[in-house]
Amino acid sequence: MKNLKQIVFIGILLVFGISLTSFGQKSKPWDVPANFKTMSNPVKSDDASLLAGKDLFNKTCAACHGRTGLGDGPKSKGLKTPVASFLTAECQKQTDGELFYKSKTGRGDMPKYEGKIDDTGLWQTVNYIRSLKK
Ligand code: HEC
Repeated sequence: MKNLKQIVFIGILLVFGISLTSFGQKSKPWDVPANFKTMSNPVKSDDASLLAGKDLFNKTCAACHGRTGLGDGPKSKGLKTPVASFLTAECQKQTDGELFYKSKTGRGDMPKYEGKIDDTGLWQTVNYIRSLKK
């Protein structure tokens, strides 16, 4: 009886462990509060803003997201969460406010940039992410 309990326990641990690792393969939905979703981008996407965004992006984000936004930066390899590409329709269909919120708050391996990059800088980075798509 005692053995059976141990086997069941180990079995549960195994199933749990396997599902945890496979969940890590694709990213979970990331809910953005409604007020952020509909937030309009206060920073115009002009040459100056794109240049500032590019500078911030290459200095801060490219290590994981890759210089072209593919998610293949040198630091992306060691992460538990995959770094999704910014170039896909799935990413680009999000509103500016959604990209802004995710950059500001982070989650898991995605750092939180609130307090590190000001809002203007984050919107400039969002504008730059938009410009990466072909
Ligand atoms: C240490 C690695 C790392 C750095 C540096 C990093 N990110 Fe990320 N980023 C991630 C990971 C991992 C995810 C996926 C997170 C998830 O889905 O849980 C992500 C996701 C995102 C997303 C959401 C993408 C989507 O389609 O939902 C945005 C937007 C984003 N990052 C913006 C930025 C910006 C802007 C910077 C720089 C200011 C930055 N990231 C720097 C690792 C990083």
